Amino acid sequence: MPFNIVSVWSKRRRSKSHDTVDPWIYKPMESWQLRDQNTQSKRRNCSLVFTLKEMEEATCSFNEENLVGKGGFGRVYKGTLKNGEVVAVKKMELPPSKQADGEREFRVEVDILSRLDHPNLVTLIGYCADGKNRFLVYEFMRNGNLQDLLNGIRDVKMDWPLRLRVAMGAARGLAYLHSSSDIGIPIVHRDFKSTNILLSEHLEAKISDFGLAKLMPEDEDIYATTRVLGTFGYFDPEYALTGKLTLQSDVYAFGVVLLELLTGRHALELNQGPADQNVILQVRNILNDRKKLRKVIDPEMAKSSYTMESITMFANLASRCVRIEGSSRPSMAECVKELQLILYINMNA
Ligand SMILES: Nc1ncnc2c1ncn2[C@@H]1O[C@H](COP(=O)(O)OP(=O)(O)O)[C@@H](O)[C@H]1O
Ligand SMILES: [Mg+2]
Repeated sequence: MPFNIVSVWSKRRRSKSHDTVDPWIYKPMESWQLRDQNTQSKRRNCSLVFTLKEMEEATCSFNEENLVGKGGFGRVYKGTLKNGEVVAVKKMELPPSKQADGEREFRVEVDILSRLDHPNLVTLIGYCADGKNRFLVYEFMRNGNLQDLLNGIRDVKMDWPLRLRVAMGAARGLAYLHSSSDIGIPIVHRDFKSTNILLSEHLEAKISDFGLAKLMPEDEDIYATTRVLGTFGYFDPEYALTGKLTLQSDVYAFGVVLLELLTGRHALELNQGPADQNVILQVRNILNDRKKLRKVIDPEMAKSSYTMESITMFANLASRCVRIEGSSRPSMAECVKELQLILYINMNA
């Protein structure tokens, strides 16, 4: 079991004690659980459980018109719950050999992940584990994923201040996952990338799919291998060498996303020749050369939206995040601090 459940519960009980009316009265565990179930914040602390029928009703029987995307874990549909809430329903595709088991683990893991609560994480509302079916239900993010936005798929102008805000939101979300503040242990995202940064109606960035790699049973087949390894183009070279997953693997992937924001290019461009496919390998060496740096700035951005000073600092941060050696990369908390300064400098130029 990857999570230490005992520490989760004890930590939650400890932190809850600050909110009680009279903190001096001892409350046994049972009453904490009752309290959790009865409060308004139930949605935040405890995942909702749906039946297959409810999932079908929400998505009009998984009508193709409601399909919003396909990814490594399966298909994602837009849906509406009985209470009118618009959600994203992720239909998990399990390899056939694993369809029958893992239900209990699935429930436990999802319960834990749904305890995470941060403005820069996509809220995991609940799940469905009905027979062979597994679904995750998330809050719906109306402006889709960052990669599509950088590709100009929506009518959103991606100027520099918005890109900086997106970088900041994503950094805060990752720093929160790494800080272990809500569930007692740090969580490595494992699959951080621009399609896992989603934007709300108000263009706030939120991270999705956190902890999901852990949810999937590990297997020798291609499904599991790609999940365990994350996505090509974002993959930490040190992890590739040592097989040891650390928080710094997320920092590497974060650096790749910073480069996507800066250049407007994809992490991996398969339509290019072999030498030009990987954006990191292409630009890593020029990030600290101001003259060459100008040439790789995304031409889609209005020149008036950025200062070269903030671009230079941003590129320098990105170059440190993608260092080969994990221990030479900054922590996510350091990235948040630096981005704050970069935002400030861009605003006050
Ligand atoms: N909560 C959500 N709200 C809106 N769209 C979403 C949501 N989750 C996922 N999507 C869309 O569905 C696509 C596929 O998602 P996913 O299965 O997570 O694969 P990937 O992360 O590899 O793109 C995403 O790229 C995104 O555009
Ligand atoms: Mg995703």
